[in-house]
Amino acid sequence: MKNKISLLLCLLIGLSGYSQKFEGLADTPPMGWNTWNTFACDINEDLIKETADAIVSSGMKEAGYEYVIIDDCWHGERDEKGFIQVDPERFPSGMKALADYVHSKGLKIGIYSDAGTQTCAGEPGSRGYEYQDAIRYAEWGIDYLKYDWCNTENINPIGAYSTMRDALYSAGRPVLFAMCEWGDNQPWEWAKDVAHMWRTTGDIYNCWNCEEDHGSWSSWGVLRILDMQDGLREYAGPGHWNDPDMMEVGNGMSQSEDRAHFTMWSMLAAPLIAGNDVRNMTPETVEILTNEKMIAINQDSLGVQAFKYNSEDGLETWFKPLSNGEWAVTFLNRSDEPGKVNFDWESKKIEDPHFDYAVDFSEVTYSIEDIWNEKELKNTKKTLKATVAPHDVLTLRLKKS
Ligand code: GLA
Repeated sequence: MKNKISLLLCLLIGLSGYSQKFEGLADTPPMGWNTWNTFACDINEDLIKETADAIVSSGMKEAGYEYVIIDDCWHGERDEKGFIQVDPERFPSGMKALADYVHSKGLKIGIYSDAGTQTCAGEPGSRGYEYQDAIRYAEWGIDYLKYDWCNTENINPIGAYSTMRDALYSAGRPVLFAMCEWGDNQPWEWAKDVAHMWRTTGDIYNCWNCEEDHGSWSSWGVLRILDMQDGLREYAGPGHWNDPDMMEVGNGMSQSEDRAHFTMWSMLAAPLIAGNDVRNMTPETVEILTNEKMIAINQDSLGVQAFKYNSEDGLETWFKPLSNGEWAVTFLNRSDEPGKVNFDWESKKIEDPHFDYAVDFSEVTYSIEDIWNEKELKNTKKTLKATVAPHDVLTLRLKKS
């Protein structure tokens, strides 16, 4: 009898739609653009419209970028019934009209809120208003929610994020749910069924290897964030991704640093969320952000993050298993000196430390495609000799030949 009652309860909970996230929204890492890294609170509807236009005209949409995400500071006050409204000065036409515009370009729209009483910039948070906010977002036509963790006092993270997941699900409009609690509560251990992606670290900063001290918190350069991903790859996969934060490509690092940053985020199967002003990009930035071959590595259907195979004198070798028995390999030169690659494939057996992927180059020969330089590199029978410039990468795609 007891068993029957529990079964019935489970069935009812299942049918009522609670305790679920929307499936099928992030089978490969999400791609898009977000306001925060470049514009912070200096945002308005014209910026969003111009950005949507530029995502189309620059070729970014064609390359796979889909979500136009408005981060903090779009909020107005709650109305007398408690429903959230947009800032009437920044978004005079309203969020529904803006969503319609973004949708008319064949793109999707994202928005930002916070599990606490206020967002990080002091706007109204969703705490206690989760279901009302989710209903409003659905009415507006929102497709993506980034959900932050400021001003949460001592609330329980699993409870807080599950509540918003359930609210979104019951509002009925599929919304990609992106958690942002900076890895403070080890979301990789519990958020697989809560969200489609979760931030693993504090905020990124626009530098190669620095820590930017803000007093009570720090933001981090590309290499610092990369190093913080250590130990997390086994938790990510199709539908649930580790998020090492939005990209800084095009925001002032050198071209090779931008290329290395984009490459490592692709190798990590990270969400590719651009954070630059896409209305004014150099051709070099466009070339990096829209590199089809690199994006194919990021978007590979296996959804397995790269692992670090070796590290010597600042030169790291990373392997990423791909579908169809293919592999992506990156030599990352972290140092300020040119890095010499001397890689004798045939003496190497590569084994994924967490998943069941392995390759023995003495038994199978692979052809080599050079992703960034398009140089002819023959195959894995011949030792690879190359020089990688400081703060740069050499990335290869290996196919069985
Ligand atoms: C936090 C997040 C950032 C950004 C800001 C907005 O710092 O980590 O990505 O959303 O809040 O205030």
